[in-house]
Amino acid sequence: MSVHPSPPSQTRQPAAAQHPSGDPRFGLIDRTLKRFSFQQDALIEVLHTAQETFGFLSDDLLIYVAHQLKLPLSWVYGVATFYHFFTLTPQGQHNCIVCLGTACYVKRAAEIVAALEKQFQVSAGKTTADGQLSLGTARCLGSCGLAPVLVLDGEVLARETPQGTVDRVRQRLYGVARPAEAPSATNGGIHEPI
Ligand code: FES
Repeated sequence: MSVHPSPPSQTRQPAAAQHPSGDPRFGLIDRTLKRFSFQQDALIEVLHTAQETFGFLSDDLLIYVAHQLKLPLSWVYGVATFYHFFTLTPQGQHNCIVCLGTACYVKRAAEIVAALEKQFQVSAGKTTADGQLSLGTARCLGSCGLAPVLVLDGEVLARETPQGTVDRVRQRLYGVARPAEAPSATNGGIHEPI
């Protein structure tokens, strides 16, 4: 799908009605709309505010933004799905984005993704069933000299390894990098007096 950088028209729009839910978070979106005078070419800024406020872009949010900017919903949906930094699904409590750009790929970034998928039972682009972790990928995070690079909860991590990343994410989610050693099969881990 091709998305043009400018919306279909550039007309100045009057302020529209507030969201009927009364959810105060919509006030933040309204503030951004007003800051840009309801200009249609402020769509990306408005979507950024919406996502920062709600965590993801629900259908309701896209409809609201389209209505407020008097843009076709298909246009707003097209922009929201074109840029990888927008998400249309709820995100987990923690977020890990692994770069799969060329420099990171040749330094085993795909193995990092595979290790995370296996360890946390989640596919790239999805969130774990318990809502703890969202795993994403990106094409290039602009730090190729530090490859492989990932971003964990907004923190950029350089020269990662599959096991190191799994340990870091586990630490972030559960407070421990590695599960406790299983007790010995022979005596249940109990030290017997000599
Ligand atoms: S390719 Fe990964 S940071 Fe550029």
